[in-house]
Amino acid sequence: MINNKDLFAKDIKDKADDIEISLRPQTLSEYIGQEDIKKELAIFINGAKVRNESLDHVLFYGPPGLGKTTLANVIAHELNSQLKVTNGSSLVRTGDLAAILSSLSPGDVLFIDEIHRMPIVVQEVLYSAMEDFSLSIIVGHGADARTISIALPPFTLVGATTDPGSLSAPLRDRFGILFRLQYYSPEELLEIVTRTSQALNFPIVFDAAYQIALRARGTPRIANRLFRRVRDYATFENKSIIDLDCTFKAMHFLAIDELGLDETDRKILECMIYRYSGKPVGISAIATAIGEGVENIADVYEPYLVQIGLINRSPKGRIPTKKAYEHLKIKIDD
Ligand SMILES: Nc1ncnc2c1ncn2[C@@H]1O[C@H](COP(=O)(O)OP(=O)(O)OP(=O)(O)O)[C@@H](O)[C@H]1O
Ligand SMILES: [Mg+2]
Repeated sequence: MINNKDLFAKDIKDKADDIEISLRPQTLSEYIGQEDIKKELAIFINGAKVRNESLDHVLFYGPPGLGKTTLANVIAHELNSQLKVTNGSSLVRTGDLAAILSSLSPGDVLFIDEIHRMPIVVQEVLYSAMEDFSLSIIVGHGADARTISIALPPFTLVGATTDPGSLSAPLRDRFGILFRLQYYSPEELLEIVTRTSQALNFPIVFDAAYQIALRARGTPRIANRLFRRVRDYATFENKSIIDLDCTFKAMHFLAIDELGLDETDRKILECMIYRYSGKPVGISAIATAIGEGVENIADVYEPYLVQIGLINRSPKGRIPTKKAYEHLKIKIDD
């Protein structure tokens, strides 16, 4: 049985991720949705090209799977620049970052994914690198210790994070361009599913594509994953086109309801309603009660439940809304 959790989990890497990479749009015009970001990026990229300067540093933030990594690729492509990719969690020592920075060529785009995972001491190395394109490193120990500065070529740092609050303020301030990615509309997701169906050469009827779009939680990565699961189902039924019937069957099999909620979402809401009687409760209490990771709930589940109005955030904690009771068919006085 397919583990339903895998569908939404943040860190899961399956072989299908290779397919996702092949589905990544390369240019701003191919990129679906995030219209405001695209408009502004096009202007900034054009300005940098006309002035023959490097583009100002860019920070993308927002829930997983909305296209941060994809946009970093698009930026490098639009600038005709080389993209170097690294991850905040692999930059443990200042030397790790210094080695990458000193390997840059003029105009390169350096993409640091999960930038909030860099330790503060490593983040500090970025301050001067971003501001003056210089690398300040301390050599020697004790009384012999001194700082040397190495000039770096002009480059563009693109950072991505699901948790901008955990970046140090000085680092956040050094990004000239900050973009919060928004959840996608069902119409945009429909376009993405249609594009995926063409790219993978497996046709889908319009209504089926729309049903996937409605259940994709505003997230392209989930839309693509649901498409692949439904395609598996169609193949299992010897169909060469995805129709509405096999889409509904696959969703039923995956226990994904018409709002795109899975078992974990429902457990979260039921825990809030039954165990905490609909009173304000913190994320960590919910996480412990249902045996889920706090980070996964905070980054993946809660933002969407808030977005679709099933949970409200209050200073005292999270509260399930009337809509949550209605969706789960629970009477408010129960
Ligand atoms: N606008 C888009 N149009 C079409 N496909 C998209 C779009 N945005 C994202 N995708 C698809 O969704 C997948 C996930 O996007 P991406 O890896 O860029 O998300 P992310 O925000 O970096 O997620 P994470 O926070 O988990 O790193 C991509 O592989 C791509 O196939
Ligand atoms: Mg990413």
